[in-house]
Amino acid sequence: MITVSVELGRCGYPIHIGAKLLAQSELYKPHVKGSKLFIVTNETVADLYLQKVKQAMSSVGEVHAAVLPDGEIHKQLSTVESIIDQMLAIPCDRKTTVVALGGGVVGDIAGFTAACYQRGIPCIQIPTTLLSQVDSAVGGKTGVNHPRGKNMIGAFHQPVCVVSDSDTLSSLPEREFRAGVAEIIKYGLIRDYEFFKWLEDNMDLLISRDKNAVAFAVEQSCRNKAYVVAEDERESGLRAILNFGHTFGHAIETGLNYEDWLHGEAVAAGMVMASEFSRRLEWLTRTESKRIVSLISKAGLPVSPPTTLQPDHLKSLMKVDKKSESGAIKFVLLKGIGQAEVTSDYSDSILNSTIQSFLQ
Ligand code: NAD
Ligand code: GLY
Repeated sequence: MITVSVELGRCGYPIHIGAKLLAQSELYKPHVKGSKLFIVTNETVADLYLQKVKQAMSSVGEVHAAVLPDGEIHKQLSTVESIIDQMLAIPCDRKTTVVALGGGVVGDIAGFTAACYQRGIPCIQIPTTLLSQVDSAVGGKTGVNHPRGKNMIGAFHQPVCVVSDSDTLSSLPEREFRAGVAEIIKYGLIRDYEFFKWLEDNMDLLISRDKNAVAFAVEQSCRNKAYVVAEDERESGLRAILNFGHTFGHAIETGLNYEDWLHGEAVAAGMVMASEFSRRLEWLTRTESKRIVSLISKAGLPVSPPTTLQPDHLKSLMKVDKKSESGAIKFVLLKGIGQAEVTSDYSDSILNSTIQSFLQ
């Protein structure tokens, strides 16, 4: 097992990464202060791993569970309310620990429930998708969607511990695995050129789920994310670079009503669009932008948005982005591979021509 630390003073926490971790009660025990644990999972993950986690946690406290329907469409306020109903019925107290067992959707919902319940209770994240292991379970962003925009309702609420069991990835469908690779590529693009080169050399191994390649990619991603979060927990500056590709990507997801495309797929297309925007602004060379498209396509991820979206619609959806200020859209763009910068200093006509180059 490897442990990466998120250095946030008294709110710091470990990310344990390795095989056969789900059943290890000693990983959970130090982080549980009260007598109850409340697991939030979904029906897919419950069938696979709930029993194992329940059993391990039963030596730590009294275990309860809420099993949600599967899908991003359920990442909404009414789901949080239904979990809180169940917690109050037990009743869970302020020392209860919420346990998020699942992918990013479960992690975001459970984390947000923990942030709200009686003004905030501890949360352990047990991410079971590649995307959640490399991104969403780390860093404390929690929340749900609003019909007008993705993740528009939420809170920063750091977990007390993250347990990433690599064995859970064995049951992950191929498409979901590749969606996680999108966020892995993101770290290479925004701040880790050596990692980007490693990904260029090892993408075939990674997508064939070679154990060593996956372990290295998860660890390196967590190290990158932990560094950025420790520097800027609440996204007053640097942390925004973690949203590379997300301004376009979130607009794609919202435009498709959170259906059909996975978050990682939308981010992949969004990263290509942001790279093309950077190239048109002459921040990136043509060679660099070709390397980016080639790596994303080698990962089997989309390199353009769905053609059913209209350019004006996409642009209006981008304005709902949380980085927008007074209606001006801020972008994370690349000054080179491994070098991201947040900017609102760009020509609108270059933005429009970038969008039009993908959506005629
Ligand atoms: P997901 O949670 O929907 O999981 C994908 C699918 O895989 C689901 O059907 C799920 O039930 C299933 N699944 C989960 N684990 C499995 C396993 N081990 N074996 C088989 N099936 C399994 O999607 P995701 O890609 O993990 O997360 C996407 C969500 O994460 C989005 O809502 C996105 O906004 C959010 N996100 C949040 C952050 C953050 O910082 N909080 C960062 C990135 C993404
Ligand atoms: N996934 C973006 C962030 O955690 O800031």
